[in-house]
Amino acid sequence: MKLIVKTLEGLEDVLYDELINLGADNAERVNRAVILEGDKKLLYKAHLKLRTAIKILVFMEEFVIQNEKDLYDAVKKIKWEDFFGLDNTFAVDAVINSPIFTHANFIALKTKDAIVDRYREKFGSRPNVDPKDPDLKINVHIRDQIATISLDSSGSSLHMRGYRRQQVDAPLNEVLAAGLVLLSGWDKKSDLVDPMCGSGTILCEAAGIAANKPAQSYERNFGFKKWKSFDLPLWEMVCEEVEKEITMTDMPKIKGYDVNSKAVTISLANILNAGFENHITVEREDYFYQDDMENTLLIFNPPYDERLKEQDVNEFYKNIGDKLKSAFTNSIAWILSGHLDAMKNLGLRPSAKKKLLNGSIPSVFCKFEMYKGSKKQKYNQDQQNESHL
Ligand SMILES: C[S@@+](CC[C@H](N)C(=O)[O-])C[C@H]1O[C@@H](n2cnc3c(N)ncnc32)[C@H](O)[C@@H]1O
Repeated sequence: MKLIVKTLEGLEDVLYDELINLGADNAERVNRAVILEGDKKLLYKAHLKLRTAIKILVFMEEFVIQNEKDLYDAVKKIKWEDFFGLDNTFAVDAVINSPIFTHANFIALKTKDAIVDRYREKFGSRPNVDPKDPDLKINVHIRDQIATISLDSSGSSLHMRGYRRQQVDAPLNEVLAAGLVLLSGWDKKSDLVDPMCGSGTILCEAAGIAANKPAQSYERNFGFKKWKSFDLPLWEMVCEEVEKEITMTDMPKIKGYDVNSKAVTISLANILNAGFENHITVEREDYFYQDDMENTLLIFNPPYDERLKEQDVNEFYKNIGDKLKSAFTNSIAWILSGHLDAMKNLGLRPSAKKKLLNGSIPSVFCKFEMYKGSKKQKYNQDQQNESHL
């Protein structure tokens, strides 16, 4: 099978690494996706384990079209009855990036008509459309004049892990939170702190990564579970294999703080839902009054005035930078923000920078290293004791 694994902009590299770790080969990075060859076992495992995948499409056909009639004819030729029967429901989702075809709804409608007409002509009857919870979700993607038909094997978006039943304003998408932890290069052993943890998304994703716990529950209603080709014994074998890979002993210290007591309650509830209540602590604490912490990895996304009102966002960021310098010596802070100007007020030079999209907000994820003394001294010290975060 040719699999198209979709992700968020900026996370293609970490998704690629995740897939290679799962044993994929022939993987190719494209914009917001990784394309690879894989079998059913890899498809099942990827659904359980990938943290930076939004959905996985299984490629079916690709053809060049001049107009909607070409699309209709090509779709009608596909042997849909091999994939779903008259009693099953289906839905068509169209994504368009073309100067010729501009109406996604119309493309979806034409595709649906072609499928329905094939069934009517062959069996005198047709399967029903269910836009909410179809048995088979068909994806049409048109780029310029190339139409790609694939099956959505995931069902609902994989960012919804199920543990986050409550959230603060401006919560991070779970896929993005996992992406931040993976991008930071965390060694899964050092202490990890989110000093403005909100609903605890970064904390839960980090604990999942450290424990090698599947990102999804085995019971999840994945799209492929409704397919004619679903292989239950293979699925059960994959679940058993994945379960054996979990290592909850020797977990690192993962700590969250938030100034808002409601956020603390919410994150603790989410952590409990995720099953990490023995591995993550959360306390109510104002970042600016934190006790000093050394040798810590901080990952956080402070509020800014796009979605959360800050009285003076530049002053707020300047104070964040001052506190990093004074209280978190020999530590590394990775900060995600959509307020690019305010980031300059941190007063620290980033040693790494990655552009990401947080929802629709162009953001930067920057690494800041707070050394005691000069960088050179720190470098020499690192060379001596070879300890690094
Ligand atoms: C953008 S939200 C973080 C969202 C979080 N990553 C999530 O996924 O839910 C920013 C959080 O910073 C907290 N915050 C703001 N000022 C703070 C401060 N001085 N100390 C600690 N937390 C603070 C807010 O209460 C809010 O929960």
